[in-house]
Amino acid sequence: MARTALVGAGAPATDVWAYNATVPGPSIRLRQGERLRVQAVNRLAENTTVHWHGIRLPNSMDGVPDLTQRPIIPGGSFLYEFDAPDAGTFWYHPHSRSYEQVDRGLAGALIVEEHDPPDVDRDLVWVLDDWRLAADASITSDFANAMDMSHAGRLGNTVTINGQVQEELAVRAGERLRLRLLNVANARIFGLAFSGHAPQIIAIDGQPTEPHAPENGRIVLGPGMRIDIILDLALEPGSRVAVTDDFYRNRSYKLVDLVYRPERALRSRSSAEVRLPPNPLARPDLEQAERHAIEFGGGMMDPKMRRRMMSPEGMTPEAREMMARSMMERMRAGHIWTINGKAAEGHLHEPDLLLRHGKSYVLDMLNDTAWHHTMHLHGMTFQVVSRNGRTLTRPVWQDTVLMDPGERVAIAFAADNPGDWMFHCHVLEHQASGMMSVVRVS
Ligand code: C2O
Ligand code: CU
Ligand code: CU
Repeated sequence: MARTALVGAGAPATDVWAYNATVPGPSIRLRQGERLRVQAVNRLAENTTVHWHGIRLPNSMDGVPDLTQRPIIPGGSFLYEFDAPDAGTFWYHPHSRSYEQVDRGLAGALIVEEHDPPDVDRDLVWVLDDWRLAADASITSDFANAMDMSHAGRLGNTVTINGQVQEELAVRAGERLRLRLLNVANARIFGLAFSGHAPQIIAIDGQPTEPHAPENGRIVLGPGMRIDIILDLALEPGSRVAVTDDFYRNRSYKLVDLVYRPERALRSRSSAEVRLPPNPLARPDLEQAERHAIEFGGGMMDPKMRRRMMSPEGMTPEAREMMARSMMERMRAGHIWTINGKAAEGHLHEPDLLLRHGKSYVLDMLNDTAWHHTMHLHGMTFQVVSRNGRTLTRPVWQDTVLMDPGERVAIAFAADNPGDWMFHCHVLEHQASGMMSVVRVS
C-alpha cells in the first residue's frame, strides 16, 4: 500500500496498491535474450500473482492463479524467472481479481531492448491509466458492479501518464522521440492524436511492424495494448500543441501539451525511417492451419436477443418475460459474457480448445455483442490476418486485439508453446464476468 499524488499537487493524495511503492510499478528493462528474475513478495491482504503480458515464456512462469501456479498468499512469495525472447514493450500486472488489483495501481512496464536499438534522442514510456476517483481523490470502491460488467467496463474520470495527471511534456525542436504507449486501464480505449505532428507506428504489442502513419491520424489502444511510435518534433521552438484523446464521441479531452523549449532546433531535417529488426516468431502456416470459429456473446443490448425479438414471428409476451428473467439471473450470477456460448468462472478450466504442439491455427472470431472487446492470448503471439473478411495486406503481430461491436477478426498462430494458456477479454470487468477461456497446447 502506498500514497501518491495522482491528480497532482494541490489535490489530496490517493491510496493505491503498488509494486515497490510506486505507481506505475518500476519500469523493468533488460536486453533481448537476457533472463529476468523477479522475487514477488505479497504484502497485500489477499492472494495475488504476477503475469508478464506479451512475453512468450514457459507456462509455469505465466502467473495465472490456479492454472499455472498456486496463488501467492498474503506474506508469501514466488520467484519468477524466464528469458525474454522478443525485444519490445511489454508489461506486468496481477492476474488475481485483476479488475481491482490492476485498477488500484498494480501495473508496470517491462521493456526488452533490441541488441542494437534505433537511434533516437529519447526513449520514453507512457503508461496510460484511467482512474475513477471521488471528490477527495480516493479510488471509488464500486468494483465489478453489474453496470460496469455488462457495459463498457469500469471507465474512470481521471487519466494519468506514468501515474500522474500531466499538464505538459517539455520537448526540443528537431528532437526525435521513441514513445512507448501502454494502456493499463481496466476498460478505457485511447485514441490519441498528436496535432501538427506525423507520428510513425513502428511496433504494436511490442512486435515490430512496417513503419506507418496511424489510420485517420489516431493511435488507438485498447486495454492491454502497446504501440511504439517515432515522434519527430518538427514544429518551431516555442510551439505548444495538445495531444488529445477523442476515442469516445463527444468525450474528447486534452491528455497533455507538448511544449517546445525556446532553444533553436537540435537538427534541421529529421533522420531516416526507423525500422525495428524482427523478433524470432514462428510464422503460422496458413495453408495447413486448422480453423476454429469463436463467437463472443452477451452483455447489455445483446444483438442475438434483439434478433430473436425482431424475428418475423416475433415473441410472445411470455417468451419475452422468460428471456428477461434468464438475463437477470445470468447477471446476478456474474455470467454476463460468453465465448462460444459459455460464461467462465475463475481461472481453472477444462480447456475449450485443444491444440497440437507445432501445428498452425486460425481463429475466426466474431464479436456478436454491442460492445468493444480486446481479446488477449497468453503464451503465443498471433497474426491478425483479416478484419471483416478483408485480408490484411500487412498482417500484424499482436497479443491483444481490439474488436469493434459486430466485427469479425481472424487471427493465426503457430501453437509452439506448450501449456494451458488464458484467452480472455482485457476489459477486466468483462473477464471477471465470463469472457475468458483456456487454450491447451500439448
Ligand atoms: Cu494482461 Cu491475462 O493478461
Ligand atoms: Cu497476458
Ligand atoms: Cu470485453
